Amino acid sequence: MAAPLAPRPHVMVLPFPAQGHVMPLMELSHRLVHHGLQVVFVNTDFNHGRVLQALAAETGGGGGDAVLPDGIHMVSFPDGMGPDGDRTDIAMLADGLPAAMLGPLQEMIRSRKTRWVIADVSMSWALDLADPAAGVRVALFSTFSAAAFALRLHVPTLIEQGILDECGNVTRNETIRLSPKMPPIEAAEIPWASLSSSPERRKVIIQNLLKTNPAIQQADTVICNTFEAIESEALAMVPHALPVGPLEAAAASRSAGQFWPEDPACLPWLDAQARGSVVYVAFGSFTVFDAARFQELAGGLELTGRPFLWVVRPNFTAGVGEDWFEAFRRRVEGKGLVVGWAPQQRVLSHPAVACFLTHCGWNSTMEGVRHGVPLLCWPYFADQFCNQSYVCNVWRNGVKLCADERGVMTKEEIRSKVARLMGDEETRVRAAVWKDAACASIAEGGSSRLNLLKLVDLLTEQ
Ligand code: UDX
Repeated sequence: MAAPLAPRPHVMVLPFPAQGHVMPLMELSHRLVHHGLQVVFVNTDFNHGRVLQALAAETGGGGGDAVLPDGIHMVSFPDGMGPDGDRTDIAMLADGLPAAMLGPLQEMIRSRKTRWVIADVSMSWALDLADPAAGVRVALFSTFSAAAFALRLHVPTLIEQGILDECGNVTRNETIRLSPKMPPIEAAEIPWASLSSSPERRKVIIQNLLKTNPAIQQADTVICNTFEAIESEALAMVPHALPVGPLEAAAASRSAGQFWPEDPACLPWLDAQARGSVVYVAFGSFTVFDAARFQELAGGLELTGRPFLWVVRPNFTAGVGEDWFEAFRRRVEGKGLVVGWAPQQRVLSHPAVACFLTHCGWNSTMEGVRHGVPLLCWPYFADQFCNQSYVCNVWRNGVKLCADERGVMTKEEIRSKVARLMGDEETRVRAAVWKDAACASIAEGGSSRLNLLKLVDLLTEQ
C-alpha cells in the first residue's frame, strides 16, 4: 500500500495594506502554490473587499469567493481603523496594525498549524509571530530595492554622522552613496525621512525604524523583489537577502491582488498603434496630483504629439473639473487613451510601448527593467527618489524630469524629455541589456530562479 501523502506545508503571507505591497506578495504566493505549498494570504478587511470587488467587476461574477483558482486562500482581519479612517495616512495606518492584527494572526497560526509566515518588512512587528517552541518561523519580504533597504539599515550611522537627527530632520545636506554601483542620493531624499512632511509623523517613522532595525537584521531570510546582476553591491549590504525578482505576472493571467479592475480597452488599443510609438504613463497606486500638476501633465502629453496611454486612477487627483477633463479627452481622442487602471505588466511588454513615464515605485521600476522600456522619472515620495537615481545615474536606462525655477514640472519639459528619450538609441540599448539580465535571472538556472527554489526548500524542510 502506498504511504499517505505528506500534508502540503502551510505558509501565511502578510503584506502591508497598500497596493504596491499586496501585488508583489501575491505574485510570490502564486509561485509558492505552483511549487506545492498551501498559501493563506492575509489582507485587511478593507483591502480584501477592494480586491474581491475588482475581480468581480472584471469577471462579472459575484464577490465573496475567497479561494483563488490556484488554491490561494484569501482571508482578512480588521486594520484597527474605523470605516471612515484615512488609510492614505500610511504612518497612522501602520501604527494601528500590530494591536489590531497580532492576536487574530496568532490564533490563525495555531488553528491552521502554520509553520512559516512571510511578512512584509513594513510589518516587521510580525517577527513576534515566530514561536520556536511551536515550530513557527518568520521570513521577511522587502518591496523596496536592496539599495533603499541598505539605506534604511544605514540610518543609525547617518544619525551618528550628524546628517540626520533622531527625528528624521536633515541636519547636514550631503550626497550619500554607500558604494560605487549604488545610487547617489541627497540626505533630504532618503526614504523614510521623506515619507512625511509632518515633523511629528517623521519622528514616529524614524523612531520606529530605529527600534525595528536590529530585529530585521536578525531575520533568517529577507526575500527581495530584485535580482543579483542589477543590485549586487546593495544586496551584499542586506543580511540574509534572497533576491527572487523581478516578480512578474504569469503571461496570460491577471494577479489577484489588484484594488481596481483593469480596463479591457488597453491591449486592443495598443494593438492598433505602431511599434515603438506609445508613451505609457502611470503613477502607481498612491501618488496624488493636484489640479495644477495634473493639467500640466495633460498638456505635456498633448504637446508630445505622440500616442499615449495614461492611467488616471479614480483617486489620482482632486479639483480637476469634469468639464475640463472631458474637453481634454475629446481633444486627444484617437491619439490618447485614458483609463482607470491598466494591466501594467502586459502593457509594458507590448511592442507598441516606447517609454514609460513613471513615479518610480519599485514595482513599476522593476517591471520597466524587466520589459526593457526606457523610463522617464517623476518620483513622488519615499524610496522613489532612490529608484530614480538608480535609473538615471547607475543603470542609465532612463532620464528624469526637472522642475523649473518655480518648482513646476512644465508641459514643455515633459514634451522635450519624451522627445529626447524617444530618440535616444543608447538609452534604449542599455534598457535592452538590463531586460536580458532580468530575463536571465528568472529563466531556468538563473540566480533568482535558483533562489526561489532555495526558498521553497526552506519552507518545506521538515
Ligand atoms: C509603493 C511604492 O511606491 C514602492 O516604491 C514600494 O516599494 C511599494 O509601495 P506604488 O506607489 O503603488 O507602491 O507603486 P509601485 O511600486 O510601482 O506599484 C504599483 C503596482 O501597481 C505595480 O505592480 C504596477 O504594475 C501596478 N499597476 C499600476 C497596475 O497593475 N496597473 C496600473 O494601472 C498601475
